[in-house]
Formats: sequence, C-alpha cells, structure tokens
Amino acid sequence: MSSQDIPETSLPHEQATESSVATRVDKDPFADPGLPPHEHRIQDIDERAAKRSERTVALLFTVSMLSTVAFIASFVAFPIDKIVYIWPFGRVSALNFSLGLTLGLALFCIGAGAVHWARTLMSDVEVADERHAIEAEPEVKAKVMADFRQGAKESAIGRRKLIRNTMFGALALVPLSGVVLLRDLGPLPEDKLRHTKWAKGKLLVNQNTKEPLRPEDVAVGSLTFAMPEGMDEHDHGFLNEIAKAALMVVRMEPDDIKDKRELEWSHEGIVAYSKICTHVGCPVSLYEQQTHHVLCPCHQSTFDLTDGARVIFGPAGHPLPQLRIGVSEEGYLQALGDFEEPVGPSFWERG
Ligand code: FES
Repeated sequence: MSSQDIPETSLPHEQATESSVATRVDKDPFADPGLPPHEHRIQDIDERAAKRSERTVALLFTVSMLSTVAFIASFVAFPIDKIVYIWPFGRVSALNFSLGLTLGLALFCIGAGAVHWARTLMSDVEVADERHAIEAEPEVKAKVMADFRQGAKESAIGRRKLIRNTMFGALALVPLSGVVLLRDLGPLPEDKLRHTKWAKGKLLVNQNTKEPLRPEDVAVGSLTFAMPEGMDEHDHGFLNEIAKAALMVVRMEPDDIKDKRELEWSHEGIVAYSKICTHVGCPVSLYEQQTHHVLCPCHQSTFDLTDGARVIFGPAGHPLPQLRIGVSEEGYLQALGDFEEPVGPSFWERG
C-alpha cells in the first residue's frame, strides 16, 4: 500500500500531535485542546477490507429486496385464516407471521446496511464548523422586506379595506374560542361535586339485591355496598351519581369504635362510609374483617374504620367521609343527611 492510498487531512487540528496538545494544555489550562489525531479505519488503508464492507452492505440491501418480494408473495400465498404451529410461538396466523417477519427483515436490512456503510466506508474525518452570527445580513433583511411589501401590494390589502378589516376581526376573535374553554377549569355550576343523592330519610338499599337494608341484614364483620333508594341503574346519569353516592356499610362491635363522632353517627355498630377513595377516586373495596381496615386496590391506601376511617397507609390525604345513619320507623337503615364533606379525591377544594 502506498502513501497515496491514505486519505489526506487538511485540518490544522489533525496535524497536531498528542505531545503538542499536552504542551498547550500545560501552559494554559483554558486553551482549546482541539481534537485528538484522526485514526484511519482499516477500510481507509486496505482496499480489500473496503471491498469486503462494500459486499456486506450490498448483501444486506439484497436481503432486504428479497424480503420485500417475500412479503408480497406471502400476501398472495397465505389465506387469511390459515393457522400454523411455529416454535416457540405456538399456533399463529401464517399470514400475519410471514408479513411481520418479511417486512421486519426488509426494514432491518436497509437500516443495518446504511449503518454499516456509514461506519466503514463513508468519510469519517472530523470537521469543525465555526458558528455563524444568528442575525441575517442587511441585504437579506432588505430582500425579505421588499418581498413582503411586494406581496402586500399584490394582495391589494391596502386597497381592499373591507377584506383587510374583516380579516383582522376574524383573526382577533378566533382566540376567544380557546378562552371560552377555560370555563371548564372553574367551579361546576350548582356545586355539583359537593352534593350526592343522599339526603335525610333516604333508605340504604343493598346495591346487589336492590332491597332496603335492615340493621339485622348487616352482620358483624360483613361489608355491604349500598346506594340511596330511588336510584335505578337504567336511569340517565346513574353512573355519575353512583360515582359520588356509593357507600360501604360495615358492622363492628360498638366497643371497637374508637372515634366518638363515628360512634354517634353509627347505629348499633353499623357505620356507613363513602366507597370512593380520597386519593384519586378508585372504589375502596378490600375489607379486612379482623382489623376493620379497608384497602384501596389502586395504590394501597388503607383506612381504619374503627377510628373514623383515618388513613393509616398510602397516598390518600383524607379519611373517607362518613354518612350519618339511623333507623326509620319501619325499621330500615336510613341516611340522616348528605355527606358533610365532599366525597372522593382530595385534589379539588374540600371546603
Ligand atoms: S385511588 Fe385509592 S389509593 Fe389511589
């Protein structure tokens, strides 16, 4: 191999030796160390290696071509419902498998060929390019302004005042549609999230049987889901309302209840709590009978029902709201009012 086979480099930094760079750095620690000397690849100095790389790239592109032909052939050859067994995938659609395989191979080989070409055969000489001023040259600016004036003249915007004025009006008004949408970030009308379907005298209805609950229906250590009487799953808006009114009814020994207000709001150890987690609103539904803890499956917030549904674990920021309950003259469990605080997640105003 002659020295003419070695590509010439003309950048000054490539002529700098390592020792000269080191000397510069020793003298002035802030001096530009430049780039390390360029190292030639085997393909730059050995024509046979370059030819090998060329053949590899060509092979990859050829495999890609063949894969594309195979893709088209598969599309024609395989019926859409043909199932075949292919280890280790099991039973798969022959058409889908062959289309995926051939198209994937075709694309992969194009990419691999391009990368191999760039890494082994294209020039890899380091190039430095000075930063240019960002500001345009005065002649360029003048040309842009001249073009703009010419465009304005040709559009006759100065002469056709009706078009100009209505266009400005349209452009000025159109952002208002975005401003109007901001209304949805404000409070809901009528304080909709603050109130639920619970009200004084509403009976607690078993959500599964749809029967009003009597105290004797609720055994110690049991968990019952309830909703207010009068709600029907087929009603329009049922899901919105049950998302706020869903209730858990649990019975404990009255002596187990530590919180004084909880005891007052309960009936013979029966307590009613919102089922909507105060973290981000999942239904709290895992009940631990021995401890009377309830767990939200979403992020494991855990509430202690013996202590005002206090949060004892997890990300929830507030206890579950309690519904004050009593017994109607007919002997059914009933609400003595709505929840006194907003149910659900803590991310909105909880008053
Ligand atoms: S929604 Fe209940 S813990 Fe996150």
